[in-house]
Amino acid sequence: MAMINKAVKVSEHVYWVGAIDWTIRDFHGYTTKRGSSYNAYLILADKITLIDTVKAPFKDELLSRISSLIDPQDIDYMISNHSEMDHSGCFTELVKELKPEKTYASTMGVKALANHFNFSDEIIALKTSDEVSLGNMKLSFMETRMLHWPDSMFTYLEDDNLLFSQDAFGMHLASIERFADEIDNGIIDYEAATYYANILLPYSPLVLNLLEQVKNAGLDIRIIAPDHGPIWRKDLGRILEFYQQWANQKPANKAVVLYDTMWHSTEKMARAIEEGLRGGGAKAKVMSMGAHHRSEVVYELLDAGALIAGSPTLNNNILPSMADVLTYLKGLKPKNLVGAAFGSYGWSGESPAHLNDILVEMKVELVSDPVKVKYVPDHDSLVLCYNLGQKIAEKLKEEFEDE
Ligand code: FEO
Repeated sequence: MAMINKAVKVSEHVYWVGAIDWTIRDFHGYTTKRGSSYNAYLILADKITLIDTVKAPFKDELLSRISSLIDPQDIDYMISNHSEMDHSGCFTELVKELKPEKTYASTMGVKALANHFNFSDEIIALKTSDEVSLGNMKLSFMETRMLHWPDSMFTYLEDDNLLFSQDAFGMHLASIERFADEIDNGIIDYEAATYYANILLPYSPLVLNLLEQVKNAGLDIRIIAPDHGPIWRKDLGRILEFYQQWANQKPANKAVVLYDTMWHSTEKMARAIEEGLRGGGAKAKVMSMGAHHRSEVVYELLDAGALIAGSPTLNNNILPSMADVLTYLKGLKPKNLVGAAFGSYGWSGESPAHLNDILVEMKVELVSDPVKVKYVPDHDSLVLCYNLGQKIAEKLKEEFEDE
């Protein structure tokens, strides 16, 4: 009988034994249009070791992939690199069922697993530079606090030059292919950037430190095995350079115009601003919140130098879709942005001022007072919008000329 849910060989001693979540479309507010995977890895050393587990409903898939290689009861060690429940969802349950000789997590991971699962069995705490012997091989560890949880940790298998990087270098992408080099670069680059923007962006200064720390550790890393999406085994410099670039948050000559509209007036304003941006030599990405998800917006903002936000006034306030996306963006702390607010109104007209306040809270440098238009923009109002776009394009140009 054909074996389903087989393990996939990653390196001489390591197998992928994770699960594929083909239909997940929402990951705590981040839209995952291509699904995801929860990657767990089995090291066939003298001490057979399982690195991470999967989301709880996928436990049987994990066990069947492990069973395609060994009896799960033969697992000697279990290691949790990250205690968020997409990776630890069945960790403590499996510890109880499989009774491994030893279990490990970072110092913070031990606490997080105990708190999540009311788990009182002993988990050995690991810190940076600790090593664990697997008999014929050895593992070393690097705590990666706040990348992106306090418990996050990297595990390195020197014998296979393989770094288990938990969420870092991952992406939400369900696929039969297990390696990044088997998938179209356009998809890989988009999903890796979207993952960075939606998960790691607020921790960018820590990412820069970590990249330096990994470089200084002198590890000869040839494979990076993250906890989501495909495994990197070719041209690792490419993903490492992307991380360096994203973490630097160095903006390009590009503006994101974000808006929602009631009767297309604010939309007309957004399009006139776009014309002004382009006329001034900047790239413009116009995004209606009726047509785009918040996680697509943060992807576009990853390399933008300006954020221009528009909303009509509804019940003395901004539209809920704009409140949603701006709340999300504020939490992700994008940096180095200039911007402005705009919007149409009927009688009270508070929305541009509200948007302005939010942009200030986001530390966006405002380059203009808000542009407000009563009811429907006429030619002169559209010229004001065009001029706003052009002014922001000029500001962006100044920043690029300063370099
Ligand atoms: Fe994939 Fe932070 O969990």
